[in-house]
Amino acid sequence: MSGDAGPPPVIACVKARPAGAPSCGGAGSRAVLEALRAEAARRGLPLRIEEVQCLGRCQQGPTLRILAGAFFTGMTPGRVGEVCDALAAQVFPAAGRHRPTPPPGHP
Ligand code: FES
Repeated sequence: MSGDAGPPPVIACVKARPAGAPSCGGAGSRAVLEALRAEAARRGLPLRIEEVQCLGRCQQGPTLRILAGAFFTGMTPGRVGEVCDALAAQVFPAAGRHRPTPPPGHP
């Protein structure tokens, strides 16, 4: 990590290969990132995404990884809450004590 006080980056593979070749881009990584940004914003969760061109799990994509943490493979827009939960556990280790209040109208 760079030493700044920001959240650990979510490393996201966005590699796109020609049709028939497995790749995260070909499996919908952009839609997953769009959903992840929306869910993090809804939760008031700071998010930093670093896009990369391969995480070595091309057959299992879309693939994400929180820096130095577990891989999230076979991601879909509907599963981005899993990434947010893991990120929140790192950003807000004392859950509930330092967590920002979501904006009005959001649970
Ligand atoms: S293309 Fe995404 S992990 Fe290789």
